[in-house]
Amino acid sequence: MVLESVSPYVWWGLGLYISVPVLFYVVVPFLFYGDRATKKRIIICVLGDIGHSPRMCYHAQSFSNLGWQVELCGYVSDEKAPADIESNPNITIHGLTNYKAPEGQSFVKTAIWKVAIQMVSIVKVLWRLRGSDYFLLQNPPSIPILPIASIYCVLCRCKLIIDWHNLGFSILQLKLGSFWNPLVLVSFLIEYAFSKFATYHLTVTNAMKTYLSETFGLPSGRIEVLYDRPAAQFRPLKGNRTEALQQDFIRQYVPADFDVKQSDRILVTSTSFTPDEDLGILIGALKIYENSHKKFDQALPRILCFITGKGPLKQQIVEQVKAEKWDRVHIEFLWLSSDDYPKLLQLCDFGVSLHTSSSGLDLPMKILDMFGSGLPVIAYNYPVLNELVQHNVNGLKFLDRRELHEALIFVTKDKHVSEVLKTGALTESRNRWQSSWEKSMEKLSLIRR
Ligand SMILES: *[C@@H]1O[C@H](CO)[C@@H](O)[C@H](O)[C@H]1NC(C)=O
Ligand SMILES: *[C@@H]1O[C@H](CO)[C@@H](O)[C@H](O)[C@H]1NC(C)=O
Repeated sequence: MVLESVSPYVWWGLGLYISVPVLFYVVVPFLFYGDRATKKRIIICVLGDIGHSPRMCYHAQSFSNLGWQVELCGYVSDEKAPADIESNPNITIHGLTNYKAPEGQSFVKTAIWKVAIQMVSIVKVLWRLRGSDYFLLQNPPSIPILPIASIYCVLCRCKLIIDWHNLGFSILQLKLGSFWNPLVLVSFLIEYAFSKFATYHLTVTNAMKTYLSETFGLPSGRIEVLYDRPAAQFRPLKGNRTEALQQDFIRQYVPADFDVKQSDRILVTSTSFTPDEDLGILIGALKIYENSHKKFDQALPRILCFITGKGPLKQQIVEQVKAEKWDRVHIEFLWLSSDDYPKLLQLCDFGVSLHTSSSGLDLPMKILDMFGSGLPVIAYNYPVLNELVQHNVNGLKFLDRRELHEALIFVTKDKHVSEVLKTGALTESRNRWQSSWEKSMEKLSLIRR
């Protein structure tokens, strides 16, 4: 036979000749790129409920508008993703597995289980999504997602973008008490070390940018500040306020003789009734307002104050309010659906924020929603708040109940002040996500217009 006389080297050569293209055109692309299309593909990942991560949803929307293939990863268990994300053909949602600890399990054991289960589920999803161009990650949480994302990006030659909402270790530090707690230290080191794998960084404040470049030593040219913006449903009221106050969800809570056409004022604050928000300041200030009315100024306008939300300290605060005698001030506790809350904000005159921050580097989302609805905000002051609330322009700031009381007197008595603040808040309400997003992304050269 002729074939038998052919030297084995020829067979080897032939085998190699056939397998090299197979290796490089089939196996390697399969391993590194999976089923990617020709479109630009970005993974957007948050270790939290997608439905509770508005900023990540905005990112997904904005990239999808440009025709990118968006892979949105997060939990879908508790709260569904917004409808416009679910129905968007350019966005695919990948649910990650969440771990629910049994009652009474220790913090450390829960943490270990949680991290292990998250790791498996993230790696599974990333295997399907290999070959993406960009990986946009919300931080915190950073464990275990940040190290995994870094390795993925090195292997797939994908560019990592970290969106810094806060510092993971500072939140843990608040929970565990000390920076020198081993868990806090590990968390700090992970954020410190793996942040260097990212090509770009986004931050929610300028103070956070400064922190990252000074403490973490990240190059400031690659860090871009992208402020949060209010969601689309938060818009100023158009139309007749007296009529709007007659809507079913709110009518029963407005006292019959309350008159917004006169100078009566409606305040609103939303809270999760946790120890880091001292509602006592607000109740105290309203109490002083009562006294001022009784002792000095019978002409002080009436105040209706809505406190929305629920949380661990709610009962205590409700009791505290009940124990006092109120005459000029009326306080209502509400728990509203996510459809009714924006409608409530539209009806109010001023928002109050008692938020404080674990790192001192982030800004409260609820102020943005108030601005979006055109409400000036009276806010508890802390250093970075300057980046959002300008005193006497779009709001007022206070540090204790006396200052808050003074602010209340200002906005109820002084027509000029309230008009200036209203104008400032309306200007703020026109400042929306898409335009600031485009600016930041252009600066990082991710998109071109
Ligand atoms: C999806 O991408 C296409 C381009 O591939 C774009 O024309 C379209 O507007 C995008 N759709 C949405 C809902 O963003
Ligand atoms: C708003 O509606 C009320 C009652 O329907 C009416 O009395 C009032 O004049 C209206 N105000 C404006 C500014 O149209």
